Amino acid sequence: MSSKMQSKCFIALLVLLSIFSCFEAQLQVGFYSKTCPSAETIVTQQVTQAFGSNPGIAPGLVRMHFHDCFVHGCDASVLIDSTTGNQAEKDSPINNPSLRGFEVIDAAKAALEAQCKGIVSCADILAFAARDSIALVKGPAYSVPSGRKDGRVSMMSDVGGNIPSPVMNVSALTTLFSLKGLTQDQMVTLSGAHTIGVSHCNIITTVDDRLYNFNGTNMPDPALNPSYVPQLQAACPKASTSTSSVVNMDPVTPAVFDNKYYSNVLVNKGLFTSDWTLRTNAATAAGLNANANNQAQWFNKFTAAIVKMGSIPLDAGAVGEIRTNCRVIN
Ligand code: HEM
Ligand SMILES: *[C@@H]1O[C@H](CO)[C@@H](O)[C@H](O)[C@H]1NC(C)=O
Ligand SMILES: *[C@@H]1O[C@H](CO)[C@@H](O)[C@H](O)[C@H]1NC(C)=O
Repeated sequence: MSSKMQSKCFIALLVLLSIFSCFEAQLQVGFYSKTCPSAETIVTQQVTQAFGSNPGIAPGLVRMHFHDCFVHGCDASVLIDSTTGNQAEKDSPINNPSLRGFEVIDAAKAALEAQCKGIVSCADILAFAARDSIALVKGPAYSVPSGRKDGRVSMMSDVGGNIPSPVMNVSALTTLFSLKGLTQDQMVTLSGAHTIGVSHCNIITTVDDRLYNFNGTNMPDPALNPSYVPQLQAACPKASTSTSSVVNMDPVTPAVFDNKYYSNVLVNKGLFTSDWTLRTNAATAAGLNANANNQAQWFNKFTAAIVKMGSIPLDAGAVGEIRTNCRVIN
């Protein structure tokens, strides 16, 4: 073979390899249709059953999927238990004790291992469970591309830099989301998930102290609607710096996945500084208005954005696996 031909062959090989690795990373709807046809139904059954006895698992699982995807990609790293040698993501103060729904994933995984051993990843179970949760609180239905692999790394120290903080301003939020491949408008769109669920009181009395001593002023945050302040203070008394009491994030329809989050934020009834700050930038404020005015359009944008979020890849070079127990690396 001439050296020219050799180099042509080499280039062809490289192209083939890159196409192959592309296909490998590509998630697809119905990934388990041949290998475990009831995979998604089994997850739906488990989530529906758990929701029946505790509706709080719906917001819990949506937030868990987000916290999974933003740290090392959507690889179920958030599900790993700490061991004597390793403090895992779930034990970061950002996740512990507020993240909830782990038992639902365990139950779904157990049912799936019984039916199709070693086939369905924990990361896919979590992505399906978040989708099912949104449907259960009357949000939009969407298909979840699957085929994720479970990661083999989970460190508490990786959480802080990757999960947004409730004190962040709009530029910091935009930068963080762009590092995850999400646009500023997708950040506004996904923030609408704060239409369901609760926050622990310590967030708004200590971390982002909007209720009693905002920025050292001994006063509530002036950016909070004055009629909302007593409502929040009643739910979160001054002494509630502990993580035991909670407050709804959407004061209007706390258990329904609707666009009320946006109308709330527009009248300064968003719970966190990170919600309010979306009013302070022309583009994000326009996004708030658009979503407040058109729920159907927001639903379309939301489903596209959560699918995008759900496809954040595992770190380059990391090798994934199908975990047997979602809490333990194989
Ligand atoms: C934009 C930046 C975001 C910030 C700063 C933020 C921050 C927070 C905080 C501080 C809480 C309360 C945690 C606690 O109880 O201690 C919370 C709850 C929640 N977040 Fe976010 N979040 C953001 C984006 C998102 C996104 C993108 C999603 C999902 C798509 C999401 C879904 C939720 C849900 C559903 C809850 C309620 C959880 C429950 O009731 O258990 N958040 N968020
Ligand atoms: C936003 O927050 C960042 C980081 O805390 C800070 O450097 C920046 O000045 C802030 N930007 C605005 C517009 O307040
Ligand atoms: C917080 O207080 C400092 C010092 O008084 C001031 O410069 C800053 O603008 C305040 N920040 C906010 C968000 O009000």
